[in-house]
Amino acid sequence: MTLDKKFVDQFVNVTVKAANAASYLVGKKDKNAADQAAVDSMRSELNKIDMIGKVVIGEGSLDEAPMLYTGEILGNKRGPTLDIAVDPVEGTNFVANNLPGGIAVLAIAEKNNLFNAPETYMSKIATGKIDKSLIDLDFTIEKNIKNLSDFKNKEISSITACILDRPRHKKIIDQLKDLNVKIKLISDGDVLGALFVSDPKYEVDIFLGIGGGPEGVLAASALDAYDCHFQGRFIFDNDQDIKDAKKMGIYDLNKKYELNEIVKGDSIFCATGITDSKILKGIKLNDNRIESETLVTHKSSNFKKIIKKTNLINE
Ligand code: FBP
Repeated sequence: MTLDKKFVDQFVNVTVKAANAASYLVGKKDKNAADQAAVDSMRSELNKIDMIGKVVIGEGSLDEAPMLYTGEILGNKRGPTLDIAVDPVEGTNFVANNLPGGIAVLAIAEKNNLFNAPETYMSKIATGKIDKSLIDLDFTIEKNIKNLSDFKNKEISSITACILDRPRHKKIIDQLKDLNVKIKLISDGDVLGALFVSDPKYEVDIFLGIGGGPEGVLAASALDAYDCHFQGRFIFDNDQDIKDAKKMGIYDLNKKYELNEIVKGDSIFCATGITDSKILKGIKLNDNRIESETLVTHKSSNFKKIIKKTNLINE
């Protein structure tokens, strides 16, 4: 079974509207307000779509968030049953502080095909298309980088590794430095960070390190369409997370997930720029027009494109 291509336009419309709603809060130093505007918009637009859409990655659990909570059913209940993963504003700091990299993002797949990711960290590794036996979360940094360098026939000194700038990554960053790898540190936004490996024009050979688990699932959906390599391992390091994991049916707490265990079958991924980034331009308001850019992938139709749209303000 595949997802009907008609959904592509409909879901692009959802992230465009959410990005536009958040764009009014760019630089207003209020990340919660930006997130709330995007959440409200996304929820109301998703409810117009012909589907029974179950939020498998959302804005927390029912008791914490009244909107887009994990488990909420959206859509007008007249179409197929789908799994939906959302991050209405990925990079809330970017939006609040008017910095590059804020996006509104979602992924959908057929029922039970998107991993129901817990709200924990995930250790991630991603590269472009490669012999998958060469890059592995269980290998040392040195082995992964050497294998990548051999595979790409590229000097280690020209290999670029993208990683979140966090104290928890000190050891990895030191190892990359000792190997003479080119390091690209990002301050937030590891969905786009992972997506940099999808195209040589972004000049990132490998993405690695620990970021949000839900963000890992979202990135995996787009990376799948690009035939990239991705592995993730959730990190359960406190009693509450371990309890929650078991409630979600995760018993092997150290399991390393391959991409096709995180996203099964067909999927659609949409990310609309709120602020500019290397991949997408942010929302621009010109007179009464809204200009947007959305990265869309639809795996089964091999559709991978940045779609530019112009909408009227009150459309
Ligand atoms: P928010 O948009 O929810 O603030 O997340 C931004 C982000 O940088 C993600 O891209 C990343 O996965 C996560 O935060 C990293 O978490 P932390 O800031 O705790 O290291």
